[in-house]
Amino acid sequence: GCSLCISLSKQLYCSSARRTRVRDALSSLETGSSIRIQGWVRSVRSQKNNLFLHVSDGSSLQPLQVVASSDLNTRELTFGCAVDIIGSLEKSPSKKQSVELQASHVKVIGECNPVDFPFKIKERHSLEYIRQYPHLRCRTNAFSSLLRIRSEATSAIHSYFRDNGFVQIHTPIITSNDCEGAGELFQVEVKNPHFFSVPSYLTVSGQLHLEVMAGAFPAVYTFGPTFRAENSQSRRHLAEFYMVEAEISFTESLEDLLKLMEDLLKTSTEHLLSHCAEDVELFHKYVSPGHRWGCDLQTEHEKFLVKHCGDVPVFVTDYPYDLKPFYARDNQDQPQHTAAAVDLLVPIVGELCGGSLREERPELLKTRLAGAGLEETYAWYLQLREFGSVPHGGFGMGFERYLQCVLGVDNIKDTIPFARSSRSCLL
Ligand code: 4AD
Repeated sequence: GCSLCISLSKQLYCSSARRTRVRDALSSLETGSSIRIQGWVRSVRSQKNNLFLHVSDGSSLQPLQVVASSDLNTRELTFGCAVDIIGSLEKSPSKKQSVELQASHVKVIGECNPVDFPFKIKERHSLEYIRQYPHLRCRTNAFSSLLRIRSEATSAIHSYFRDNGFVQIHTPIITSNDCEGAGELFQVEVKNPHFFSVPSYLTVSGQLHLEVMAGAFPAVYTFGPTFRAENSQSRRHLAEFYMVEAEISFTESLEDLLKLMEDLLKTSTEHLLSHCAEDVELFHKYVSPGHRWGCDLQTEHEKFLVKHCGDVPVFVTDYPYDLKPFYARDNQDQPQHTAAAVDLLVPIVGELCGGSLREERPELLKTRLAGAGLEETYAWYLQLREFGSVPHGGFGMGFERYLQCVLGVDNIKDTIPFARSSRSCLL
């Protein structure tokens, strides 16, 4: 730190003076410490000779209360402005917070005209309202909480896989395959049309690349952006979303996949609830929508199933073979022609995960690919089955749908920093 700068007024704001995060000031610092904080003013209140500010810096939901002399009450010190404050951290006389910062110096480093600023002091704006301002909504408590939760959930998921011996694979964003075959591809337009010599697309799933790796590792995963040009204005579809995908080798049982999904969800959610309790609580108190559902037929079916089972997560397995993509494993032993596939349906969003065992038997796969006219395109995929093929399977989980479900957020657009969907690509 640079305690000197604090005592020598000339160099008061020298850039090496140590800065403290609001979160640390609130939780772990001793009273009497001289600190410098930088953040944004969330409220200003004048009382007798004192000025009370709440300052947030994004590190915690709770702001830091700053007490300054009323003389400082300048025109620039308004809701939303950016400030740099030096003072002493003291025990607060009020019950509302344990500590407060008694400021010796308050500098406004970025003004904010409260008339033009779309958010108003002490008002609770709806998620729908703040969505209109993708460049500013991170300044609100609710969206700032969401972003902290999203970051923590990302770490929780990576930790889960690391702790369970999975190797992370960076699957490509640009690809020449259409894994799901659902025709929702974004085609990549290259200025030089001969650049790749084949048409290329933004990935709809990293599954096929993970399957390549399942031929060399027992367990792999990927967690990255995924793109689908879904022409849907629904509250659970994005054109760019993050998908968590896992693939495990040497497994012949769908049950292993179900266990993996359940364990991943339980472990990550427990981590989230213990590390972001305050932020998660904000959503449960103020934001939860009362579980509205979309209205397309498929969603209605999912809704029925989840309700029927008591509003808990439900696994649906063994779908009709013809409804599933070419990679799904044929359940040959069942009376009806089904595939070893599974969907996990959850309250609020419906389908959260989709997965299957993959067809590892070369003859069966060959027949299926030939039937779909895909033999040539997927010659490499078939070859995976000819060199040391092992039974394997995996699943994908929509990360935004996961957040939607855990937080009770009505619209998926409110779970991602910058939402993209049909007819909407702001910023
Ligand atoms: O069920 P899907 O299409 O499965 C696959 O892509 C498999 N290849 C995954 C695998 O086995 N490795 O998608 C998986 C999940 C869905 O259950 C859903 O949660 C999410 O991805 N998802 C979307 N999320 C937001 N917006 C969209 N447009 C989504 N499409 C799918």
